[in-house]
Amino acid sequence: MKILGIETSCDECAAAVVEDGRIIHSNIIATQIAQHTPFMGVVPELASRLHTQWIIPTVDAALREANLKAHELDGVAVTNRPGLLGSLLVGLSFAKGFAATHRLPLITIDHIRAHLYAPQMEAPLAYPYLGVLVSGGHTVIARVDGYDQVETLGATVDDAIGEAFDKVAKHYHLGYPGGKVIDELARSGNPRAFLFSGSTLPNPLDISYSGLKSGVIHQLDTFWDGASEKSAQNIAASFERAAVNMLIKRVRLALQETGLKRISAGGGVAANTYLRNELAAFRNGGYEVSLPSRTLCTDNAAMVAGLGYHYLADGHVSSYSEGAHARVSAFKRNNS
Ligand code: KG4
Ligand code: ZN
Repeated sequence: MKILGIETSCDECAAAVVEDGRIIHSNIIATQIAQHTPFMGVVPELASRLHTQWIIPTVDAALREANLKAHELDGVAVTNRPGLLGSLLVGLSFAKGFAATHRLPLITIDHIRAHLYAPQMEAPLAYPYLGVLVSGGHTVIARVDGYDQVETLGATVDDAIGEAFDKVAKHYHLGYPGGKVIDELARSGNPRAFLFSGSTLPNPLDISYSGLKSGVIHQLDTFWDGASEKSAQNIAASFERAAVNMLIKRVRLALQETGLKRISAGGGVAANTYLRNELAAFRNGGYEVSLPSRTLCTDNAAMVAGLGYHYLADGHVSSYSEGAHARVSAFKRNNS
């Protein structure tokens, strides 16, 4: 089955064609980074306007690259939650129109579940596994029992990890988007120049990035080793080490508590070099670790089409009355 995937939940206008949940025939990502850079952050109104302009050429490109006509598709999968409401509505409205015109089934997709599914496309992992979702909007450690069965074990109680990367970079004028810039700077910095620490929460698997972010921004001297240069490289490396180590500590604890033997990661921050190395190191302890390539970590429509296949194969088709939801997520603790 060939599925057209559409993803417009934030600042990437993306379309892809994927066969049987895994074979990627095209994966077009039109990023709005350049347009949002002057504001050092995503401007929601601008994002939805650009999606409106870009959605048709992006879908056209995805079909062209896959060498397919619309009538050769078996379904249309589209992200409808969570994300920026205006942006989601552009993709969802387009998908409904496209599906109706070409008489194709419509499958609405949760963005978070799609990120957690992404590693399955390149390096399939048997269920159950520990899913680590780290993006600009979410930080979740979950037990994943199936493509649609996700149970939150721990999550951020305030900022998402990617948000912390972006805000630290913005404060120090390091560049945009912050995560990638900090990753690059950190490679030549001393990760022990500043010894930032995190806090412990009632649920030890929950995590807080707000305190770390404030420490890096407002109390740099408190954590300084007193000798190292206060350079962008040293700040980046020390912040990155603290942010990732806080997460890894919880991953280790979650593995002990659940007894799970497999780990996968998804979301934009899963592209981070230090985090990838730390997660890959679990292999030395006998764990199976699946990390998607960087293209499948950040927002893309291949993961949407890939996940859509499983819903369709299991007979789940969405109604045209489904709307877009800014905040609904797969990650309520009761898995509802
Ligand atoms: O998954 P994503 O593309 O969009 C959301 O669903 O949020 O994630 C975007 C986030 C941004 O915060 C960005 O700074 C971060 O992923 N990011 C990184 C790296 N590449 C992107 N963070 C750390 N290291 C990276 N290499
Ligand atoms: Zn995302």
